[in-house]
Amino acid sequence: MIVAIDGPAASGKGTLARRIAGHYRLPHLDTGLLYRGVGQIMRDRGFPLDNVEIAAAIAENLDLADLDAEKLRTREAGEAASVVAAHGPVRRALLDLQRAFAAQAGGAVLDGRDIGTVIAPGAEAKLFVTASPQERARRRFRELVGRGECADTDEALAAVLADIARRDERDSGRADAPLTVAADAVTLDTTDLGIEQAVAAALAAVEARR
Ligand code: C5P
Repeated sequence: MIVAIDGPAASGKGTLARRIAGHYRLPHLDTGLLYRGVGQIMRDRGFPLDNVEIAAAIAENLDLADLDAEKLRTREAGEAASVVAAHGPVRRALLDLQRAFAAQAGGAVLDGRDIGTVIAPGAEAKLFVTASPQERARRRFRELVGRGECADTDEALAAVLADIARRDERDSGRADAPLTVAADAVTLDTTDLGIEQAVAAALAAVEARR
């Protein structure tokens, strides 16, 4: 069984993907990490993010084993990711790796922006996880404050909301694989749901497709 989970930044799709993968004992790939990895390497080496050729070459040589999830979860890496993710050649360079992961014999769970539409259009279960921009900003803000990456002030919360709005616009507005809901996806709005309620709803949606 392939489970495809898509949705905007900080919608809770990563948490749900991990929980679904744990429930069915399936391998899980957070595909945002691939784009974050490319964006972070560009930054570390001082390349401008709009250099498509270099970004594509880095994507081509990306090794899953080298991606450090903790280090890549920063705001800067997320911002850089959404810039390089708009480059068609970067997306194409990461296609085989993601499709190979999805094609593993026992199945897999992948989460991102284009899993149900581009990477695994034949996935048995597709979820589109979303929440209001305010709620997503609040969650991301809490996470950043918890990690000491951001001050606990109203101004900082407003800045996180602006970040989210900019990323939504970039991810939905790009020409190549924009964030859209697959025709056969189940939409799960987690704005008013606690984590356990969201997990239960997600598992029920997957079970219904199995
Ligand atoms: O999900 P996450 O916030 O880690 O993703 C970072 C960025 O990577 C997103 O804003 C998006 O631009 C890009 N991305 C993508 N396609 C995916 C996963 C992530 O374009 N499948």
